[in-house]
Parts: sequence; structure tokens; C-alpha cells
Amino acid sequence: MLTHNATFRKPRFAVALALLCTLACASAALAESSGADIYKSKCQMCHGADLKGNTPGGKMTHTQPLDTPEVIAKTDADLTATTKNGRKKMPAFASKLSDAQIHSVIAYIRTLQKK
Ligand code: HEC
Repeated sequence: MLTHNATFRKPRFAVALALLCTLACASAALAESSGADIYKSKCQMCHGADLKGNTPGGKMTHTQPLDTPEVIAKTDADLTATTKNGRKKMPAFASKLSDAQIHSVIAYIRTLQKK
């Protein structure tokens, strides 16, 4: 009886693992796409699709480019703080975006900095 059960449990365990992995991978992909979506809807009008701030909104607010060596060298914590609190004409997003959303939008900006 015991060995019978044990042989039944193994494949189930494998299925559960496979399912977990699928969910984890899907949520990672979702986080990435939501970072891009958030950037496009909340940041791009000033910062531009290429981070250079060369947009009407960027010019009006004197938006600093996000792809300079200085900004690239900043930590995620620095960029997160500016995003949360705002700076000069940059609006604060602490009450508009969750920590997870800010995390994924910063991760998306990091991918643009590498382009
Ligand atoms: C209304 C225009 C505007 C929008 C929208 C905007 N920003 Fe900004 N952002 C600015 C300006 C202007 C600055 C430069 C502030 C300064 O001169 O100190 C800036 C600076 C920054 C910095 C600091 C860069 C550095 O030098 O350390 C980060 C990070 C940043 N923005 C991220 C974001 C993110 C993420 C979003 C979207 C969630 C966003 N911004 C939306 C205008 C904007």
C-alpha cells in the first residue's frame, strides 16, 4: 500500500512543480510588460520612448535624459526615490503607483538604458 501511494505521488509532484514554474514565468513576463505599459502611459510623455526627454512634455518641464552615464550609475533605490517623491517639475508617483509598479517601471527603464 505504502509503495503504491509513493509511486502515485511522484508524478503529481512533478505536475505541481511544472505548474508552479509556468505561473512564475508568466508572472515575470507580466511584470516586464506592465513596466513597459506603465512607462508608456505615465512617463513617456515627458521622458520619451528613448529616455532622452525630447518630447513636448519633456521640453516644457526641462526633463533630464535618463540615459546619461550619471543616471545609469545611480542605484535603483535612487531612481525609485525620485519616482516616488518627484523632483522639480517631475511629479511624485508614490500615491499613483504601487511599490511593485514602480519596481517594474524602473526595471523597464534599465532595459532602455542598455539600448
Ligand atoms: C511631467 C513630466 C514628467 C513625467 C510624467 C515623468 N517625469 Fe521623470 N522627470 C521629469 C523631470 C522634469 C525630471 C528632472 C528633475 C530635475 O531636474 O531634478 C525627471 C527626472 C526623473 C528621474 C531622475 C533622474 C536622475 O537624474 O536621477 C527619474 C528616475 C524619473 N524622472 C523617472 C520617471 C518615471 C519612472 C516616470 C513615470 C512613472 C516619470 N519619471 C514621469 C519629468 C517627468
